Amino acid sequence: MSNESLANLLKEERRFAPPADLAAAANVTAEAYEQAKADRLGFWAAQARRLSWETEPTETLDWSNPPFAKWFADGRLNVAYNCVDRHVENGLGDRVALHFEGEPGDTRRITYAELQREVSKAANALTELGVQAGDRVAIYLPMIPEAVVSMLACARIGAPHSLVFGGFSADALATRINDADARVVITADGGYRRGKASALKPAVDEALTRPGTENVRSVLVVRRTGQEDVAWTEGRDVWWHELVESQSEQHTPQAFDAEHPLFILYTSGTTGKPKGILHTTGGYLTQVSYTHQAVFDLKPETDVFWCTADVGWVTGHSYIVYGPLSNGATEVLYEGTPDTPHQGRWWEIVQKYGVTVLYTAPTAIRAAMKWGDDIPAKFDLSSLRILGSVGEPINPEAWVWYRKHIGADRTPVVDTWWQTETGGMMISPLPGVTETKPGSAQVPLPGIAATVVDDDANEVPDGAGGYLVLTEPWPSMLRTIWGDDQRYIDTYWSRFENRYFAGDGAKKDDDGDIWLLGRVDDVMLVSGHNISTTEVESALVSHPKVAEAAVVGAADPQTTQAICAFVILRGGVDADDEGLVEELRAHVAKQLGPIAKPKRILPVAELPKTRSGKIMRRLLRDVAENRTLGDVTTLTDSSVMALIQSQLPGTT
Ligand code: WT7
Repeated sequence: MSNESLANLLKEERRFAPPADLAAAANVTAEAYEQAKADRLGFWAAQARRLSWETEPTETLDWSNPPFAKWFADGRLNVAYNCVDRHVENGLGDRVALHFEGEPGDTRRITYAELQREVSKAANALTELGVQAGDRVAIYLPMIPEAVVSMLACARIGAPHSLVFGGFSADALATRINDADARVVITADGGYRRGKASALKPAVDEALTRPGTENVRSVLVVRRTGQEDVAWTEGRDVWWHELVESQSEQHTPQAFDAEHPLFILYTSGTTGKPKGILHTTGGYLTQVSYTHQAVFDLKPETDVFWCTADVGWVTGHSYIVYGPLSNGATEVLYEGTPDTPHQGRWWEIVQKYGVTVLYTAPTAIRAAMKWGDDIPAKFDLSSLRILGSVGEPINPEAWVWYRKHIGADRTPVVDTWWQTETGGMMISPLPGVTETKPGSAQVPLPGIAATVVDDDANEVPDGAGGYLVLTEPWPSMLRTIWGDDQRYIDTYWSRFENRYFAGDGAKKDDDGDIWLLGRVDDVMLVSGHNISTTEVESALVSHPKVAEAAVVGAADPQTTQAICAFVILRGGVDADDEGLVEELRAHVAKQLGPIAKPKRILPVAELPKTRSGKIMRRLLRDVAENRTLGDVTTLTDSSVMALIQSQLPGTT
């Protein structure tokens, strides 16, 4: 990536200091950076003591066989005990762990004492089904409390879980069951989505007809909707309310080695077979617990935390289940979509439960921007004190909107960079310490070593761009790709020697702060310049008429690639306005320089997104290059592509 092209792009001058009261009472102060810098391993060893160990570790990191790390290897602990039982033993049994809000409006309030009973019963049930430590359990559930209970029950008996997002197809489920060789599947009759009951069990039945899934002995089925006519395979299928409810509420957790596998989670990536990312026990729990209380300044007695992700993504694993519960937090679990039954649903939930810390994704923030400022304005959001973002680069304009319209221009916004592979947050401001900059994740967290390098692995100077790398192992790092050590080495540790290659483009600004620029595959080459799709998108979104933008490089005979932008206009803007496209092109040229001016700009009604909210630029490239569309099966809504194609000039 050429440095000069990235260096002179987007200039963001806005700065927001931490609120004085928050800074004065913050869990983590600037000292943490110093401590971690002076003794990184000592710092992590100290964080590990946040947990309750059956056998305290004496070793911190074993990096004698890189890139295969062992953290706290001689320690032993039980993850479910740490997330549930110890809080009850500490007298916090009556504290609410989960405020569950179903999409139809049904609610459940689950205290830590109740959670302990539920998890114990589920652990006993899995044991009755023959699940032993080390056996894999696939979990294919909607966002209901049983999803959290199932994960903790697996952790409690040392059975690694593999969650498959409930929106995935039977095929995706079968591939994952096969790869992990799962023995049990936990599912539900269905869940609620967009005001309707949508079935899940049929996809399990179909998946289990595929070759490679024969080792599944049992399917444990939660009754959620009660509306489906559920097909039943005798001897294999069993109802949760029959098996789990009949179990004893007592279960003694057994300690496992710190490196015992905790879960496998598949990342689809853009190409190739899904990678089963393997996370283990002690290091993972240490880092998610530490980062959750540091980055969100969690005060478990008073905060109400809400992470809007699905438990099927790593964000849900780390910041709905393991981080918050290990910290004894009270949190919201919401089943449905943000616009059901109305576009203010999320803000209504914030008001109802007095949410203090909200963690969501840029795609959701941009959707709320598009729906209009007046919607959140109808609700009392004054309980909020910290806002988080994750999943994609957040455009500065969306960041500022989030702070202003959700955070009353008062709350810090923390933009947290990490990946399924990193297990926990890696780069993020600290809300009581960092002066924040819209659009930048800024600095590696205490104990984390990250930088930006050029093609030859040399660290770039401030003001220059390149590739994001992690230069030291970290506790919650993936340990391997399930069943494929070589692919683990090739994918992450071969591009640069001794450095973890994250696959993201990044730049350092003049202060040395890190800006993420999207996946390296998404960087465009225009007349010899590397231009990041993220920056052109942010420039477009900074125009008052644009709500959302997706930019791709389309093959071009003159310039190698030409910038092609798909934009969603804000409410009330006329897409047929003659001068609009020129106005937007000129705006980008002014923001970023003429080289970044899109050759084509196409207003569209929707953008193709994966189910985790990431824009599928690959498909837009197909459109821009007039190709037949590639695989659309991981799209949330495959009709979006037909809609986009029908809106293109020259089509009817
Ligand atoms: C990729 C990882 C981390 C949990 C959710 C996604 C992008 C993530 C940010 C951010 C810019 C970000 C990166 C990364 N990403 N957070 N704050 N700023 N980009 O997990 O599905 O494994 O995706 O998401 O491209 O590599 P994932």
